[in-house]
Amino acid sequence: MTTATARTPAITSRLPNVGTTIFTVMSALAQQHGAVNLGQGFPDFDCDPRLLDAVSAAMRGGLNQYPPMAGVPVLREAVAAKIESLYGRRYDAGSEITITAGATQAIITAILAIVHPGDEVIVLDPCYDSYEPNIELAGGRAVHVPLVPGTFRPDFARIAAALSPKTRVIIVNTPHNPSATVWTAQDMQRLAELLRPTDVLLIADEVYEHMVYDGVRHESVARHEELAQRAFIVSSFGKTYHVTGWKIGFVAAPASMMVEFRKVHQFNVFTVNTPVQHGLAAYMRDPGPHLGLAMFYQRKRDLFADGLRATRLRPLPSAGTYFQCADYSRISDEPERAFCERLTRETGVAAIPMSAFYADALEQRLIRFCFAKQTTTLELALERLRRL
Ligand SMILES: Cc1ncc(COP(=O)(O)O)c(C=O)c1O
Repeated sequence: MTTATARTPAITSRLPNVGTTIFTVMSALAQQHGAVNLGQGFPDFDCDPRLLDAVSAAMRGGLNQYPPMAGVPVLREAVAAKIESLYGRRYDAGSEITITAGATQAIITAILAIVHPGDEVIVLDPCYDSYEPNIELAGGRAVHVPLVPGTFRPDFARIAAALSPKTRVIIVNTPHNPSATVWTAQDMQRLAELLRPTDVLLIADEVYEHMVYDGVRHESVARHEELAQRAFIVSSFGKTYHVTGWKIGFVAAPASMMVEFRKVHQFNVFTVNTPVQHGLAAYMRDPGPHLGLAMFYQRKRDLFADGLRATRLRPLPSAGTYFQCADYSRISDEPERAFCERLTRETGVAAIPMSAFYADALEQRLIRFCFAKQTTTLELALERLRRL
């Protein structure tokens, strides 16, 4: 290890408020105590071997050099075709789709492309943890508007009140991490009406687009003519195909917005690895995997939520994503983080405190579990939680 010396110049942090994320903290604690890790959101099972074969065939077939900056055309075409078949909007694969290094890179790239110093960005709390540091790096300011406590529905009166001449963009995430709620068509309509008289852009984080349950349809912004005209829609192959470690996603937007996105993208990552793009394009010829995903995860949700009902935790509705929130107020009135730490140490199950997703660390006695796990993992966790 090279230790800093008096000669190492001090850095004035661009992100002075950022520390180690709660996901890293809880995963480390889970490992230390041999807990079942239902904290961080990733599957503990492998992807479809056909996807591995497709990527391996691309690598062995010599598809290993730089692809075009915006992504390989076959994959962009596959994405455009999927969006059209599901949501009825045709994006031009050449000028309106870009392949990114996960949704995370798509979101920061969109923000850097459109947010200028002094601009405001509306985020709806609780929200994914990368949004605010991304906004800060662009010199903007996050304006936090809470979703309605208890139901986690968008509060349009408060969103309207937060709009100002400085508002440049609003970030919407549906299906929603961490609350597992989904926006309705009526919510989208209300948002469209609010934004109509403004120049405010929209970043739609739809990484869980294929995980909506109980026969409800995903209200993608792509379905909504007016909103789509001002939106970057972001999704993640990692979530859809059980390969979160591959870090690959995409963004869809009108051509004039995509021009600016790509200016930042080409000097950020420039492009995303070639063989995985070809492998995904080949695999996506079969729509079965993405069409079957909701039922696959709905069964896991049902298993886990039913199991929770037999504990002293109270499961909240989970309409989408692979998360299940639970209320622990029957067990304890500790703050959420303290409860999660104790749950990991004493009960052997790791979860994430909901307060970690709020700028003001709102306490509601709620924790988030991830159920993207094998049945045996979920059953082991439930057996432990029954002892609570
Ligand atoms: C709401 C939300 N957005 C974005 C991401 C990041 O996705 P990716 O792994 O493709 O970067 C996640 C991952 O947990 C997420 O939950």
